[in-house]
Amino acid sequence: MRLARLSPLPLVLPLLCVVAGVASTASKLIIVTGANSGIGKECCRHLAALGGYRVMMACRNVTAGHEAANDILRQHPDACVECHPLDLASFSSVRSFAKSAVGGRAVSAVIHNAGVMAVPYRTTVDGHELTFQVNHLAQFFLTELLLPNLRRAYRDTGELSRVVIVASGAHRWASTNNQGAAGGLARGAGAAQHEVGAGGISYATEMSRGWGKWQAYAGSKLCNVLYAAELTRRYGGEDSGVVGVAVRPGTVRTAIARHSPLLRFIFTLVQPFLTSVEKAGEVVSNAAVDPYVAAGAYYDKDVRTPASAAGQDMELQAALWAVTMNILVSGGDLQRAVDLG
Ligand SMILES: NC(=O)c1ccc[n+]([C@@H]2O[C@H](COP(=O)([O-])OP(=O)(O)OC[C@H]3O[C@@H](n4cnc5c(N)ncnc54)[C@H](OP(=O)(O)O)[C@@H]3O)[C@@H](O)[C@H]2O)c1
Ligand SMILES: *[C@@H]1O[C@H](CO)[C@@H](O)[C@H](O)[C@H]1NC(C)=O
Repeated sequence: MRLARLSPLPLVLPLLCVVAGVASTASKLIIVTGANSGIGKECCRHLAALGGYRVMMACRNVTAGHEAANDILRQHPDACVECHPLDLASFSSVRSFAKSAVGGRAVSAVIHNAGVMAVPYRTTVDGHELTFQVNHLAQFFLTELLLPNLRRAYRDTGELSRVVIVASGAHRWASTNNQGAAGGLARGAGAAQHEVGAGGISYATEMSRGWGKWQAYAGSKLCNVLYAAELTRRYGGEDSGVVGVAVRPGTVRTAIARHSPLLRFIFTLVQPFLTSVEKAGEVVSNAAVDPYVAAGAYYDKDVRTPASAAGQDMELQAALWAVTMNILVSGGDLQRAVDLG
């Protein structure tokens, strides 16, 4: 189900955006990461078409971001679209995005769409394996930084704020260790220092410890599913009003396959059977605005679907939260106090 288009709004919005530069109840702020291409861009286009939203495109390449914003504005001249730099491979970039681009504004939804797939092994400036940081760690960090903004939107409107996480069916391929109820992610000793609890979580983040590019992707997408559920448990109450949802956008031919010639070839062969990028963008944006979306759930496109057994494992959900918090706190990026309430 979609929100009805609020027809008089597009006429008023540009004025609100340009002149006042403030969020009104008529223009809820929605942040979309990785918005310059693929599913993220189409998601922004769909929000622009719906009207009533101020769309903040967060892009690591702002030149490409502005091009995408202009493309959307050509089609929807009355839409409210802005573009800001965000590189998830750098925590300092995440911090300045939260501070400079968002500031104190109320945020109705954050759509964590940016992601990488099957990239070669690399560590970020923050010392983490790239896929793990971009696809999970940095989005967790960003949500924590934006928590006051998300809470404020809930207080202002009484509507739950959404954290949409673009997951994948690939979460089902994440290897689990079958040891104890909590299992494990991409079992390897790389993250052993982050291991918590009996049968906790361990994610191979070092080349020497059995890291593989596809397992890294699958593992990160399992993180997405686990995180959406745990975030809802922690912040979904009335004191915060912030809920998560994980959504599989479908299989879409986008630039995501750039690091895999084989996958690009397969995509070309089977393209007629794939989900269109427009449909995927619509699915993802609906996860942020459709009032009937179930908090903490996993959606396969429009359909609420059980995640993998590991994805539904509450012990693993809690373990991932603790692991992630430990990484960010021990790295000095987050104070544990942020975790309270
Ligand atoms: N396509 C599929 O079949 C499929 C299936 C399931 C799930 N997904 C998920 O859908 C999401 C979007 O993927 P897509 O298919 O639309 O691929 P895409 O066209 O490659 O888009 C990915 C976006 O993420 C951005 N990004 C990559 N690294 C970043 C970083 N360090 N900081 C900030 N942004 C970064 C990219 O920016 P640049 O343009 O600068 O690289 C791009 O805007 C991903 O999370 C992916 O896992 C896709
Ligand atoms: C950023 O995007 C622009 C426009 O699409 C492109 O020409 C440029 O090469 C990109 N820069 C990087 C570093 O990818």
